[in-house]
Amino acid sequence: MRQTTYDVVLYGASGFVGQQTVRYFAEHTRPGEVRWAMAGRDRQKLESVRARVGVDVDILVADSQDRAAIDAIVSQTWVVLNTAGPFGVYGDEIVAACVRHRTHYVDITGETPWVRDLIDRHHQQAAADGTRIIPCCGFDSVPSDLGAYLVARYFQQERGVDCRQVKAYYQAAGGFNGGTLASGLDIYDRGQWERVANPFLLNPPESVPVDVERHRDPVAPQFDEDVEAWTAPFFMGPVNTRIVRRSWALFDRIASLEENRQQESYGADFGYQEYLKCDPPWGWLQSAGMVGGMALIAGALQVPPLRALLLQGMPQPGSGPTEQVMDAGWFRCELLGWGSDGSRVRGLIADEGDPGNRATVKFVCESALCLVLDFEGLPGGTERGGVLTPAVGLGDVLVGRLRGAGMRIEVGG
Ligand SMILES: NC(=O)c1ccc[n+]([C@@H]2O[C@H](COP(=O)([O-])OP(=O)(O)OC[C@H]3O[C@@H](n4cnc5c(N)ncnc54)[C@H](OP(=O)(O)O)[C@@H]3O)[C@@H](O)[C@H]2O)c1
Repeated sequence: MRQTTYDVVLYGASGFVGQQTVRYFAEHTRPGEVRWAMAGRDRQKLESVRARVGVDVDILVADSQDRAAIDAIVSQTWVVLNTAGPFGVYGDEIVAACVRHRTHYVDITGETPWVRDLIDRHHQQAAADGTRIIPCCGFDSVPSDLGAYLVARYFQQERGVDCRQVKAYYQAAGGFNGGTLASGLDIYDRGQWERVANPFLLNPPESVPVDVERHRDPVAPQFDEDVEAWTAPFFMGPVNTRIVRRSWALFDRIASLEENRQQESYGADFGYQEYLKCDPPWGWLQSAGMVGGMALIAGALQVPPLRALLLQGMPQPGSGPTEQVMDAGWFRCELLGWGSDGSRVRGLIADEGDPGNRATVKFVCESALCLVLDFEGLPGGTERGGVLTPAVGLGDVLVGRLRGAGMRIEVGG
């Protein structure tokens, strides 16, 4: 391992999620076990977070656009955990520095156009150097990506068949961060929606199937016989499905290189889709309301006075739900898979706490800890690198750490 001053630097540590990563590291790592530091653009803010949490760690300061200062931070650490978003605005220099210095990287972006740009700019170099650049390690898209991975592996290892299809059904309760809203608006304002709508935006071109239409995002409420419930399109689906399809494509490529097809590929004809599950007796009303509400919001954003009205009273960057709302939140991701022999497998990933904060913080902090504490055991050994997904870059090691951190993760017939 490269000699570094720190194991992990938490960049963006003064933000709403960033502060929670500081608390997570303070509460979940033993003294001396992990050498970590806080970083961001504003020393005063970082000092007040450090005092509030009551930890004795170094503070490193660099604006995200200051290449030299970012280099100085990134070169000192084995892993960067980045929560400073919108990532399309603040993330470029940090990832570029990670690739230059062979520093592993995780973040909580859901900005798929930016992830596509990272793949185009950095995948080749990071793959050649064995540097793991792993975006989307928050609520989007860890449960979807690990869920599809575990179901596909179960078919291969327990049944000896390929996985043909996985469907994920989400239910969740929680709040909403100003930073998340700012990131969504940034994609919208840059005119990136066409890219967002591409079901294979993150795939290598040669892995895009001819029947793209079969993989388009659901747009309407529908009654799903498989779970006997009404469903609506899940609002994170356009992010999560792209990550799962990238995992499928990367595993397929790894399998072809390593001549280990049965171990790595999900199967040639794999499909993945996800939904918001709406419980009876008002499931049909909830699903229709969800679809109608999303259409109204999309329409209002195009009319400046309506947009201004809509955004009034919404959380601003730096703010988010109360502690009470975050504690009361929860999520469930039910998975249903079909094998090439027609048999079914079920899975479940679930946890207490607001998905966008509590779960996201657990997902991304445990992802970073995989890269520090379990590096030698990661899938693909120490050689694997590139712009990866949580399943390809962290796989079973992350599953084990999340279970150890109290998350329910089950898969079976
Ligand atoms: N994957 C998920 O499930 C999930 C969940 C929640 C959030 N997110 C994403 O995470 C990101 C952060 O969310 P949040 O709620 O924590 O937002 P936030 O509170 O607004 O935090 C933004 C962070 O970016 C930093 N920043 C702003 N300008 C900067 C600059 N020029 N240089 C360096 N840092 C700069 C801020 O620093 P200051 O404190 O100095 O202003 C702050 O630390 C968003 O993109 C959001 O979409 C993802």
